Amino acid sequence: MVITCWGAKGGAGTTVVAAAMAVHAAATSEHGALLVDLDGDAPVVLGVAPSDGPGVRDWLDAGPGTPPDGLARLEEPLAGGLALLPCGSGAPGPASDGSVETLMQVLGSDRRTVVVDVGCLTGAAGADRALRRRVVQLGDRSVLVTRACYLALRRASDAGIVPDDVVLLAEPGRALRADDVAHALGAPVSCTVPFDPAVARAVDAGLLLARLPASLRRAVGHG
Ligand SMILES: Nc1ncnc2c1ncn2[C@@H]1O[C@H](COP(=O)(O)OP(=O)(O)O)[C@@H](O)[C@H]1O
Ligand SMILES: [Mg+2]
Repeated sequence: MVITCWGAKGGAGTTVVAAAMAVHAAATSEHGALLVDLDGDAPVVLGVAPSDGPGVRDWLDAGPGTPPDGLARLEEPLAGGLALLPCGSGAPGPASDGSVETLMQVLGSDRRTVVVDVGCLTGAAGADRALRRRVVQLGDRSVLVTRACYLALRRASDAGIVPDDVVLLAEPGRALRADDVAHALGAPVSCTVPFDPAVARAVDAGLLLARLPASLRRAVGHG
């Protein structure tokens, strides 16, 4: 099962939600979980040292002839049944070269729950944008992470991809509610994550992997 998490605006909470889903799946599913980092923030959010070695973007950059089993060698095992496929630094090649399709086939045949942090779909440009969109289109379940922010909802609609479901980061004081968000996006809100300063502190302290805050664990556990 490949779950792709994407945002329409930076700072929505996409990386935190993707990381929390992966940590939770690793703890609860038989075969563990793999977090695939297409955006570069996952190690810092999880509180592990970012590696400067190759990652999934380098694998994609190497083109269609690259052996698929090379991907597994790029993985970093973390705690609690979770592994990280780091971002690396390669520039994406043309979306038409078949590498993304191969990547998604390999991830789709993995027994683990695979969560991809796709990042922001509307901020990237050119080949990078095409890569991120293709990953979302080829995954099994596409999850948009958003705040109840009119600007973010406009951008999400403009992205031209209707997610399978939405994770809503519910901040206090917003006028738009979960059903407004679902209506605007044409997709159900499967999970509402409360805005919780304990989450922001855990991220800043690099503690998300060691101790998933209770509000986040409850939210992704029910999503
Ligand atoms: N549930 C939450 N409660 C409070 N702060 C949060 C929550 N989720 C994310 N944040 C904070 O929001 C900021 C952006 O989160 P991040 O996941 O990096 O967003 P994105 O990946 O969409 O750019 C970070 O400072 C993070 O700590
Ligand atoms: Mg991010």
